[in-house]
Amino acid sequence: METVGVVGLGIMGAGIVEVFARAGLRVVGVDVDEAAVGRGRGHLELSTGRAVDRGRLAAEERAAILDRITLTPDRGALADVDLVVEAVPEVMELKRALFADLDRICKPSAVLATNTSSLSVTTIAAGTSRPSQVVGMHFFNPAPVMKLVEVVTTVLTADGLAARIADLAVRLGKTPITVGDRAGFVANRLLLGYLNHACRLLGEGVSGRDDIDVAMREGAGLPMGPFQLLDLIGLDTAYEICEVLFHETKDRRHAPSPLLRELVAAGRRGRKTGEGFYARTETPTLLDE
Ligand code: 3HC
Repeated sequence: METVGVVGLGIMGAGIVEVFARAGLRVVGVDVDEAAVGRGRGHLELSTGRAVDRGRLAAEERAAILDRITLTPDRGALADVDLVVEAVPEVMELKRALFADLDRICKPSAVLATNTSSLSVTTIAAGTSRPSQVVGMHFFNPAPVMKLVEVVTTVLTADGLAARIADLAVRLGKTPITVGDRAGFVANRLLLGYLNHACRLLGEGVSGRDDIDVAMREGAGLPMGPFQLLDLIGLDTAYEICEVLFHETKDRRHAPSPLLRELVAAGRRGRKTGEGFYARTETPTLLDE
């Protein structure tokens, strides 16, 4: 695979574009209109610019990376790519419609992958004429930093495709695991129960926001406390994943906590809206974008 497409240029999609381009692949990034494409370009310039500022990337390398990237609102530009990774919002109808379109636009040999964190890959695959070439390729936030890629297969996936995608992930400098099509796969299935539990503890007044975060950073050695991580993931995203997990598993651990529900209803969605459990000004190093 030498040329890939990424659809959706939000934080995750732009991060995925950067990962591919850094590994030397040519990338076509697509979003709905010029404004969304401009925001995606902004994420990429900021992230690669910061790497240069920190001395982690030479200015010429940055230029070469950005040179390998084409950003456009025209999905037709995906006609010749070998693989498309979809990173649009977690709405099944949206993904099904997009995959029907990609199925029509992309060459017959192209692999179609979804970065979904909780929706059924099988349902997405079944809506195309090439379900054996549809997989999950689930990256973690921030995509340029986190090593894990969950390669999700379905009962319809062609033999050998998971291994090809895992090989590609290794080429990207990532660590792949292979997982079946079950809600939350592995990482989110374990992680969201914990994050939701932290919200319950806070809601019940067991301890304060900062103290719970300190407990998990200083006591469990995690890089971020649960509320800092929820702000990074997005409270709305976490809420939606919990809903799907609860629906599928009927496990009370995943029933979204009242506090999480309340904050999402109040529009406090975390880093992406500037305020979640923390205000942007309270965690400038984490919310500095
Ligand atoms: N984009 C690109 N690079 C970034 C970045 C971003 N958004 N944020 C941080 N980085 C890079 C920095 O440039 C730095 O690189 P360098 O060492 O080469 O200079 C490196 O990451 C470390 O960053 P910082 O020094 O600024 O800060 P930290 O050491 O605190 O690390 C962190 C930041 C990597 C985000 C770390 O706190 C961490 O690992 N947090 C946990 C993240 C996590 O658990 N993610 C998974 C969420 S679940 C998910 O995504 C699934 C989804 O389906 C919901």
